[in-house]
Amino acid sequence: MTIPDPEALEVPAAGPWLVRIPEVFAEEGAALRRRWSPTGSTPLGTEFHLLRATSAAAMAGPEALLFTSWRLPVGHRWPCRPRTMEGFVEKAAQGLARTFAGRSPEAILVGLLQTGTPNTYYRKLASNLRGRLLQVFPPMPGGGGMEVRPDAPVLYCLIGPEGLYAGLTTPRQANGLRPGGARPAVSAGADAISRAGAKIEEAMESLQLYRALPPAGAHWLELGASPGGMTRALLARSYRVTAVDRAPLDTRLDGAHGLTFHRMDAPLFRAAPDEVFDALLCDLNGPADAALAAALRQAPALRPAAPVVFTLKLAGVTGVAAAVARRDAVVAEAAAAGWRFVAQAHLPSNRREFTLFFETTRARPAGTARAPAGHRAPRAPAADRDRADGQWRRGPRAPGSARGPGGRLGR
Ligand SMILES: C[S@@+](CC[C@H](N)C(=O)[O-])C[C@H]1O[C@@H](n2cnc3c(N)ncnc32)[C@H](O)[C@@H]1O
Repeated sequence: MTIPDPEALEVPAAGPWLVRIPEVFAEEGAALRRRWSPTGSTPLGTEFHLLRATSAAAMAGPEALLFTSWRLPVGHRWPCRPRTMEGFVEKAAQGLARTFAGRSPEAILVGLLQTGTPNTYYRKLASNLRGRLLQVFPPMPGGGGMEVRPDAPVLYCLIGPEGLYAGLTTPRQANGLRPGGARPAVSAGADAISRAGAKIEEAMESLQLYRALPPAGAHWLELGASPGGMTRALLARSYRVTAVDRAPLDTRLDGAHGLTFHRMDAPLFRAAPDEVFDALLCDLNGPADAALAAALRQAPALRPAAPVVFTLKLAGVTGVAAAVARRDAVVAEAAAAGWRFVAQAHLPSNRREFTLFFETTRARPAGTARAPAGHRAPRAPAADRDRADGQWRRGPRAPGSARGPGGRLGR
């Protein structure tokens, strides 16, 4: 089983970490915090915790990768009351410059310790602090904003009524580009078909930390599509979608351009002999092994190096060890079928579930449009797999989003 290897973390062996543990994992989080930080932790804002003495190794372990939706090695902290602190922005900017200006961050991102609907006072304060930091730090490529490489050093600063907490890390190591793991600006909105529309947008942003998205016009196979929030989001990105569910799609998707819908049991779906899908999305509810089996049955119809976005539901699972074991079982089963485990995330719109990302690695047998049902193709030589990797340079944009040059993130 291959768990994504976090790159070497430039932090002291035992240092303070700021972690975000989603509310849905409050119970597991309490036990984990005691394990990660035996000397104690301090709650900050909503969902954030300052772990006093925690090793980088602990934060790179499977439990932290699953149960913290965002994490930051803290290199500078200023517990204070920014609201009543005279000259907070200037003092904070000078303090941060003393600690981090010599470490060449390529972007500075400031967020809030408060999740959910942000307090306008602190949102404005965050914006003012970022503006001042960009003045006192040396110029950064791309203006120091969100259009940054996933492995570029970023100075992340989080503020709230409890003060200022900052550190240098990469978007990939933090487990998300946005400071504190905030939601992308593209939100579901009042007209949303389901909350899952926002979830696939968040998944796309997360996937981009590891690989390029399929280009516009690419064909997604979606298992568990009803009522159609994700389907609509994929179509809005100019993808084609073959959606499968035993329940109907929302009538707002009737006649949608690029959409084919099969109302049926997912395990029974078979692609046409000459049909090839560029990506697979599986959001089936029910037992994880059944959902994975339904997804793996579609393997012969997937192109090599196709991304697979898989929602790992935790229904019936309680406790850290059981969740990790379920994740491990799914990853092992997928690996046995030739799917490379790329990454995992707890996205802002995930409830008691994780989003796992895989990539198909097997080459199709030469000269065949697709393998017959049940056929297990031989594993492709490593060189072929490498060639297949990363051949997509750019994915399409969500409506209203922007993309930076050369694999940079951000919108
Ligand atoms: C979480 S919902 C999917 C939400 C959807 N992705 C969206 O964007 O709105 C899970 C779906 O899985 C479907 N499902 C579960 N088991 C299924 C099966 N064996 N065959 C077909 N659909 C199934 C359910 O009907 C349900 O619509």
